[in-house]
Amino acid sequence: MNELRPRLAVLISGRGSNLQAFIQACQGGQVSADIGVVISNRPNAGGLQTAAQAGLETLVLDHKRFPSREAFDAELARALHSAKIDLIILAGFMRILTADFVNQFQGRLVNIHPSLLPKYPGLNTHDRAIDNGDSVAGATVHYVTPDLDGGPPIVHVKCPIRPDDTGASLAARLLPMEHMIYPAAVQLHLTKRVYLAEGHAYFDGKPLPPDGIDWAALPAQDAHL
Ligand code: GRF
Repeated sequence: MNELRPRLAVLISGRGSNLQAFIQACQGGQVSADIGVVISNRPNAGGLQTAAQAGLETLVLDHKRFPSREAFDAELARALHSAKIDLIILAGFMRILTADFVNQFQGRLVNIHPSLLPKYPGLNTHDRAIDNGDSVAGATVHYVTPDLDGGPPIVHVKCPIRPDDTGASLAARLLPMEHMIYPAAVQLHLTKRVYLAEGHAYFDGKPLPPDGIDWAALPAQDAHL
């Protein structure tokens, strides 16, 4: 661990494939930060093993053991402060965070959502896109605000929907794209090219459009190609 590099916390609830992408990106230099801690709200999350194999510090905060959402979030905040975390990465973290928590870390809290936000916040995004007859789906990295999946998008990637797609086939095709855009978006934040100010996201000093940067339009070095 390099004392001078920013420290990331990766919060997970499940398999942790995005966590794996960050482990590789930090090791490979595409993300100039270290993962200071991996926190799961589920004791059996597969990603905990991935983290342990990579020699990362892990912490389980089983939400079932807390009397309230507020109590869980207070302990989570305490753990993040004590690990001296600069940026919190929600990677398949299936828990709604309280407004108090989110406000405390605003501008230092990002998520990836499997839709082209602001379309389809919430669950079952791919099924909803298919049911609506959409021709394109996607994923979006965004700053987290108290508005669930409603924070300003940073980077999105588009994925065409095929006539025979199911929610599962679409999710499987999109996942490797998530693994590219999430570290790329985080690196733009870490290098201060992207930031949140007064509820708006900016890129190289200019306000971002409501759907963020199209990953396909990023120069190759920023897209981590
Ligand atoms: C991803 O599809 C992400 O978009 C969503 O949850 C899933 C997490 O997958 N928020 P993994 O645990 O990173 O493999």
